[in-house]
Amino acid sequence: MLQPAKRFLSPTILIFSVINNIMDKGEILLDLIRTRQSVRGYINKPLAPEKIIRCLEAARLSPSACNSQPWKFIVIDEPALKNEIADATSDKILPLNHFVKQAPVLIVIVMEKPNILSKFGELVKDKKFSLIDIGIAAEHFCLQAHAEGLGTCMIGWLKEEKIKSLLNIPKNKRPILIITIGYPSSDKLRKKIRKTSDEITCYNSYR
Ligand SMILES: Cc1cc2nc3c(=O)[nH]c(=O)nc-3n(C[C@H](O)[C@H](O)[C@H](O)COP(=O)(O)O)c2cc1C
Repeated sequence: MLQPAKRFLSPTILIFSVINNIMDKGEILLDLIRTRQSVRGYINKPLAPEKIIRCLEAARLSPSACNSQPWKFIVIDEPALKNEIADATSDKILPLNHFVKQAPVLIVIVMEKPNILSKFGELVKDKKFSLIDIGIAAEHFCLQAHAEGLGTCMIGWLKEEKIKSLLNIPKNKRPILIITIGYPSSDKLRKKIRKTSDEITCYNSYR
């Protein structure tokens, strides 16, 4: 038997409500994208494990070339180890990453061996699909974190060998990216510095 509320839903209303729902999702996602920013200051507040698990789930569900999923996410929440990893993201050439120590948790993304199809594609097309895949997964993670009220910053400047030895990463694998995650120390939104859409978009031909 139909529920009373459903009895009055005509197909037109149903379609309208589905479209409406889709548009809302589009707005919600764009708003999250617009307000995500690299966070370089964190307060000393522990993170609920469920929040990190949801971010990891968002990353796990990312698309990848040939569904290769060439990644492993190492969650670093042990304070002493976390500080040692943080030290490995800063040096004299780029002293900018000192803030990494403030984050209560770090995620180290290790590039795993791609599957055979993706590897074949990389060789034939001379394109490092695994790096693209990791970038997408990292952004999934960061957007989910933002939706959870957390701040993140991707860190590509790191001492790979140091991190490998701290985390027992096998010699033939590379820690490619670190993501800092925690509660931001400020909720002030910076102005986005981006090329204009005219500069980066063209239709039907390169210009
Ligand atoms: C692959 C990659 C590596 C990055 N490495 C660093 C880094 O080592 N240190 C840092 O402070 N920010 C790093 N960032 C953050 C960028 O500086 C930042 O995304 C960019 O300036 C745009 O600012 P927004 O994220 O606030 O919009 C990195 C971002 C990406 C995507």
